[in-house]
Amino acid sequence: MKLKILVGTMTSTADYVAQAIQMDCADLVEQIEICLMDGLDISAFDEDALYLICTSTYGSGDVPDNARALYDSLDSTPKFLGHVRYGVIALGDSTYQQTFCFGGKKFDERLSGLGAQRVGEVWCHNASAGTMPEELGAAWCREWLALALSPA
Ligand SMILES: Cc1cc2nc3c(=O)[nH]c(=O)nc-3n(C[C@H](O)[C@H](O)[C@H](O)COP(=O)(O)O)c2cc1C
Repeated sequence: MKLKILVGTMTSTADYVAQAIQMDCADLVEQIEICLMDGLDISAFDEDALYLICTSTYGSGDVPDNARALYDSLDSTPKFLGHVRYGVIALGDSTYQQTFCFGGKKFDERLSGLGAQRVGEVWCHNASAGTMPEELGAAWCREWLALALSPA
C-alpha cells in the first residue's frame, strides 16, 4: 500500500511534518509520497493509495493558499470518493480560538461529504503548545498507520 501525503502549507511546517513521517514510517508502508497541494485538484484522489491530509490554517480559519485550488475543486467538481480512506493532520495555533485547526477540519468535512472514509480522529497540533509537530506528528502517524492497515 502506498501512503500519499497531501501537504497544505504557508511556511513549510506541514511539509517538515510530512518529511518526518516519510523517514519514520518507511518500514510500515511500501511507499510514502509527499505532494504539495499546489496545482492539484480532485483527481489527486484517483490513485489507489491511503491518503493523509497534512495542512495548516491561515487567514481566519482558512486553508493555506497552496491548498485553495484542491479544496475548492472538492466543491466545484465534486465526485463520489467512496474508495478513499484518509487521515488528517491539522496544524494550528490556539491563540486563534474560534478557528483552531480549521484548515484540516475543513478538508475533513468536504472529504467526508463526498463519501470518503476517515480513519481515526483528526490530529491537531497547537503551535502555542511548545511541542515539536514533526516529532509528535510522526509518532501519531505510526499509530494511525497501524489502525489503517489492520485487517477490518
Ligand atoms: C496570519 C496567520 C493566520 C493564522 N490563522 C490561524 C487560524 O485561523 N487558526 C489556527 O488554528 N491557526 C492559525 N495560524 C497558525 C498556523 O496554522 C500554524 O502556525 C501552523 O503551524 C503553520 O504551519 P505552516 O508553516 O505549515 O503553514 C495562523 C498563522 C498565521 C501566521
